Amino acid sequence: MTVALGTSIRHEWGLDPDFLTVNHGSYGATPLAVRAEQDRWRQRMEAQPTRFFFLELPGALREAATALAHFLGADPEGVAFSPNATSGANAVLRSMRFAAGDEVLHVSHVYNAVRNTIAYVAEQAGAKAVIADIPFPRPEPASIVKSIERAITRRTRIAVIDHITSPSGLVLPVEDIVRLCHAAGVPVLIDGAHGPGQVPLDLQGLGVDWYVGTCHKWLCAPKGCGFIYARADRRDDLHPVTISHGYGGGFTAEFDWTGTMDPSAFLSLPASIAFYEKLGGAALRERNRKLAAEAATLVAGALKTEVGALPEMAGSMGLVRLPIALASKRSEAVRVRQALQAASTDAPAHPLDGALWLRLSAYAYNEIGDYERLAELLPEVLKRLGD
Ligand SMILES: Cc1ncc(COP(=O)(O)O)c(C=O)c1O
Repeated sequence: MTVALGTSIRHEWGLDPDFLTVNHGSYGATPLAVRAEQDRWRQRMEAQPTRFFFLELPGALREAATALAHFLGADPEGVAFSPNATSGANAVLRSMRFAAGDEVLHVSHVYNAVRNTIAYVAEQAGAKAVIADIPFPRPEPASIVKSIERAITRRTRIAVIDHITSPSGLVLPVEDIVRLCHAAGVPVLIDGAHGPGQVPLDLQGLGVDWYVGTCHKWLCAPKGCGFIYARADRRDDLHPVTISHGYGGGFTAEFDWTGTMDPSAFLSLPASIAFYEKLGGAALRERNRKLAAEAATLVAGALKTEVGALPEMAGSMGLVRLPIALASKRSEAVRVRQALQAASTDAPAHPLDGALWLRLSAYAYNEIGDYERLAELLPEVLKRLGD
């Protein structure tokens, strides 16, 4: 069955009709049907809290983790929920024992919270972060692999690689990167916050050591639905940041319970996956990829600037250079964001290599008219910013 996308399906979400939503990437958006499923789980939890937490939750959580594992191409025993990708990355990095002089490799477009986590674990041990530069704009996949290859040394203890970079929306060639790192004896943590729902995944086939991600972005799960995957030989030494009753009981025992919290977002994930498949699954991903590319070209044309990604490295987020000087300052990016909010729209702007870039998302409820509206709005917004 083919579902009509764009404005005709927007009513499935509770999105503000007066706001131009072209930023699915930051926080996702949860459809009403999935929110109803979350409400059902909450009602069940509150009807008899003890029965729910003590008797029902362990099995229900494993069932939801199994559905996620199938979606990720992973074995269910290697997948556990976490509130978000940041906490998953923290679990991996803070479970490692670094020594003075060790190196943690990451790319220059790393997500800032993960950059901070790396800085924190490095500081504790006298280790250091080493950056593999992403040549920008419009990098070739091979140039990124080369850059990572150059950054690996005999002190590299782990490579932390974004599957899809946050500030630039680039889909990195993770198969080649994992192969390269493993050949050099370096384990790999992939930060796949933007992966599920935007690109196909086969984590066991990929052979990656650890993969963390979120489902509240491109799978439209309720907020607070992330996960951690660990390859079979990486599970024993891995612990959640919060140590609880399951300590020493193995990967799922430790991660399935980190203290009392509302697990309804995790338990609603099978409904999110079903919704995503109803929207088209692989066909939706392809449609969003084409729409994001078209949107970026359209907006770059209107601003007389350029796009940031080659088609072979683009996913459901397009990148457009803004015609703004002095753009290397982070405060400039915040001002753009505030000005867009004031104009009833939103898209993150990031300084990259001396220019400011705007990231546009394309999801099921978007259509090309959204970006035409944005292209009309932007010159006025930017002009006001300059005044
Ligand atoms: C690459 C990357 N990592 C981590 C995150 C953080 O995700 P969360 O807030 O779910 O932890 C993001 C969010 O945009 C991201 O883009």
